[in-house]
Amino acid sequence: MNTPHPETICVEAGRDRAAGEPVNPALHFSTTYRQGGAYEYIRERSPSIEAFEHVVGALEGGYAVAFSSGMAAAASLFDGLRPGARVVAPEVCYAGVRELLAARSAAGALEVAFVDQTDTEATIEAIGEAELVWAETPNNPLLGITDLATLAAAAHERGARIAVDATLATPLLQNSLELGADLVVHSATKYLAGHADALLGVVVAADEAEGRRLADRRTITGAVPGPFETFLGLRGIRTLALRVRRAQENAGELARRLSEQPAVSRVRYPGLAEHPGHELAARQMSGPGSIVAFELDAGAEAADAVCAHVHRIANATSLGGVETLIERRGRYPAEQTRVPPNLLRLSVGCEHVDDLWADLEGALGAV
Ligand SMILES: Cc1ncc(COP(=O)(O)O)c(C=O)c1O
Repeated sequence: MNTPHPETICVEAGRDRAAGEPVNPALHFSTTYRQGGAYEYIRERSPSIEAFEHVVGALEGGYAVAFSSGMAAAASLFDGLRPGARVVAPEVCYAGVRELLAARSAAGALEVAFVDQTDTEATIEAIGEAELVWAETPNNPLLGITDLATLAAAAHERGARIAVDATLATPLLQNSLELGADLVVHSATKYLAGHADALLGVVVAADEAEGRRLADRRTITGAVPGPFETFLGLRGIRTLALRVRRAQENAGELARRLSEQPAVSRVRYPGLAEHPGHELAARQMSGPGSIVAFELDAGAEAADAVCAHVHRIANATSLGGVETLIERRGRYPAEQTRVPPNLLRLSVGCEHVDDLWADLEGALGAV
């Protein structure tokens, strides 16, 4: 048999092929197990959580540990660092992670250097004695691209490890471990689960011992996902390739149409030739993904009005589901210093592109 493609791994990994076995791994709603077997208590291990981890690990090529949310996954990595350790983090990344790092830094638990990680040289310069480089690419919400291979090599030369939040890329569009990362993190709430109905996170470690340490820490802190969440995560992954491809096609078309709109002053989408990270994205990703950010000439109020005028597209936070969502990120105080106030983030879903465009064009016209 040939080595399966990622699309095939999404569908076939983790299935028991023995006669009489169910085609899907069974869902275990039990917190405890009769003693004497492999499982004892859900906070330590559970077959339903392991089924999800097995498939994500197969997709990323490492050892996956599932968490109760993307934030819990990120926090577990920071918790494993030496007290006072230096972390190099992106100036622009998911606001929750930035806030978490800022809080750890303010408490003296970590020393955090925030840098523009689309500037590879500046990021390498900031490494110094860092224990961890935390990257996020493409970044949320500005879609900046970080050169992972160069940064991973530089981090390793300096004795640092590199972890990548690849939520926007998904395991299908970017293989972060192959590019040199030690750890890859996903908010599985987004594309992996894919239907805006489950809160879930996952870390994949290149090194098995590191994966085991993460799982041990998870047992102690209790940031374990529920079995139904991991069931939804696994069920989502079965159609991940279809959803990612369809949403990406839609996003490319919407980005193109938006860039022709006189009311739109800037479109940020790595698939557009004018995007500053376009060539890098084409090298390190197999596709630009399905998040599009665009700015309105008329400012923040006009951007809010677009959110109020869309009917089919939901004005809601989050991303990576089958449904298209729009949001003005600058409405959050934590985003205001880094994100242009007139920027709208569009998480493009799987609807028909003409229906999405009709809604968007109508809302743009109305303001
Ligand atoms: C890039 C990124 N990382 C991490 C998170 C946090 O994930 P969760 O909401 O699952 O805790 C988010 C949430 O929006 C995100 O967009």
